[in-house]
Amino acid sequence: MSDGQTIASDESPSSDELRERSRKALQAQQQPTVTVLSSLIAVQDELHYIPDEAIEETATHMKSTINDVWSVASFYTNFRFTPPGDHTIDVCWGPSCHLGGAQNVMLRVHSELGVDEEGETADGKLTLRYSTCLGACALAPVIAVDHHMKGRQTPDSAAAVVNGLKGA
Ligand code: FES
Repeated sequence: MSDGQTIASDESPSSDELRERSRKALQAQQQPTVTVLSSLIAVQDELHYIPDEAIEETATHMKSTINDVWSVASFYTNFRFTPPGDHTIDVCWGPSCHLGGAQNVMLRVHSELGVDEEGETADGKLTLRYSTCLGACALAPVIAVDHHMKGRQTPDSAAAVVNGLKGA
């Protein structure tokens, strides 16, 4: 996280709650083979990130060490270790979207969010991610808000989407 970025703490779950939710996610795994990786995926599905508490609970659950769990968690770029914003905006820059003008959409989204890369806005409320394909190429250029696709975007329409989220 860069300087000046904060996460709203008034609604953040307590350490005890993070542990409890992590334990439940770990125990709810149904697949025949439970691994450190599957456990971390289960926790991130539940919490949307991997807090320190989840690393510790995963180590306990898997009878492993914190170092071993951390080495798996840090290897995969899909895991995140800070809480996401209240809403996540994915902007696709894959081939179809690129040809359709995704770069201008991306630049406008940056401008509206006040960021110049992936991550959280300064108030921690919105998360921007880049995607190499959101799976809706026929609707390029595509963005998604909390996994809901919004196709045929222009810089102006994307700006309207982002600004709608600012007050949400
Ligand atoms: S390349 Fe953007 S949705 Fe596939």
